[in-house]
Order: sequence, then structure tokens, then C-alpha cells
Amino acid sequence: MAGTGVQKFYRYHAYVYDGTRWMILHGRRRAVAQLRVGPDSRVLEVGCGTGLNFSYIQEPLQGSGQITGLDFSADMLRVAERRVASQGWDNVELVEGDATTMQLGRKFDGILFAYSLTMIPGWPEALRRAREHLAPGGRLVVLDFGAFRGWGPLAPVMRTWLRLNHVDTLAGYEEELRAVFPNLTISRWLGGYNFTAVGTVE
Ligand SMILES: C[S@@+](CC[C@H](N)C(=O)[O-])C[C@H]1O[C@@H](n2cnc3c(N)ncnc32)[C@H](O)[C@@H]1O
Repeated sequence: MAGTGVQKFYRYHAYVYDGTRWMILHGRRRAVAQLRVGPDSRVLEVGCGTGLNFSYIQEPLQGSGQITGLDFSADMLRVAERRVASQGWDNVELVEGDATTMQLGRKFDGILFAYSLTMIPGWPEALRRAREHLAPGGRLVVLDFGAFRGWGPLAPVMRTWLRLNHVDTLAGYEEELRAVFPNLTISRWLGGYNFTAVGTVE
């Protein structure tokens, strides 16, 4: 079966993802709060994976609004589908698609990339596509691994380990984000373990 390295990686990892990633993927609630969405908002999560952020997004939506989760891994989406069904969420739509070519034909009040940007081959195009999908006044939030700059000799170890897991921590994310969202704010956490970036459009 064809597919990118990332899609192949998730063919197996999809089934152990929820049981393992809680150890390394932090800051979800804080990042979702930065979307500043409310009832009736439309939220897109790019690279939604198994849908681990959906329950945080549902909180401000208060049972209304709409969540669209886009991912190019059918295996991850299958797990997300089970989560949505078991929670009885009828306001979640899952779309199998590539972030770098997405064209959903509608706009969103909030767009979240949570630990996906650093895994997307061709990620600058995904950012541009996201910008095109933001409604006026909308907010883009990126939560992802940083470059571990404060980690001394452990930094290259962490970066290499993540690289082996298809995560590129060293690309110019901040520069590109600023190019697309000139009013970007960025916060770094835990010595560069992860960061949240927030961009808005008028
Ligand atoms: C580390 S997981 C993050 C999943 C979820 N956002 C979370 O916070 O748990 C990265 C996800 O990005 C997806 N992804 C990577 N490249 C993609 C692309 N070009 N288009 C759509 N999804 C992509 C992967 O399939 C995977 O599900």
C-alpha cells in the first residue's frame, strides 16, 4: 500500500497512540483555550489524529458549534471515529485529507495544529492553507515541540529521538508563522520542550 512515511508510521502507532502519547504530548488544554472559541464556533483541527483534543474543544462549544478534524492517516481517523461515536458527539466531522492541499470550501473561527505541524511534510503550505480557511477575526493556534534549546547536552538526544519518529524540531516554524501571521505571539515552555503560537486575522 502506498503512503508517506508518516502515514505508514501511524499504521501501527494509531493503535497504541492514546495509551502512550499522554507521556510526551502536553499543553493541550492551554492551547485549546487560546482558540477563544465559544458556542456556535466552527473549529478545524489539522492533523487531528485520534481526536485527543476534541473533548477540550467541546468544552467552550458547550454542545453546539462544529468541530472538523482533518488527517491524512486513515488509521488515526478510524480511532477518532470510534471516540466520536462512543462520546455521542454529533457536531464532529472527520475528513481524510492532506493539510498541504486542503480545500474545505468553508472558513473556521479557530484552527488548531496540535503536535502536527512538525510532522507534516511540506508544512509551510499547510500554514498557508490554514490561513485561507480562517474566518475574519479567527485565530490559529499551533502547539508543538520546540527545539529543546534549554536542555544542554540532552537537546540533541531529544531532537534525534523525535526525528526518528518523523518530527522535525529544527525547521523555521517561527519565521514562517510570522510571515503568514505578522501579529503572531509565541510562548515557549519547559526550556523549549514545546511552544504555543497564536496568529489572528482581521
Ligand atoms: C502527533 S499526531 C497529533 C495528533 C493530534 N493532533 C494530537 O494532538 O494528539 C500528528 C498527526 O498529524 C497527521 N499528519 C501529518 N502530516 C499530515 C498531512 N500532510 N495532512 C494531514 N494530517 C497529517 C498525522 O497523520 C498524525 O495523525
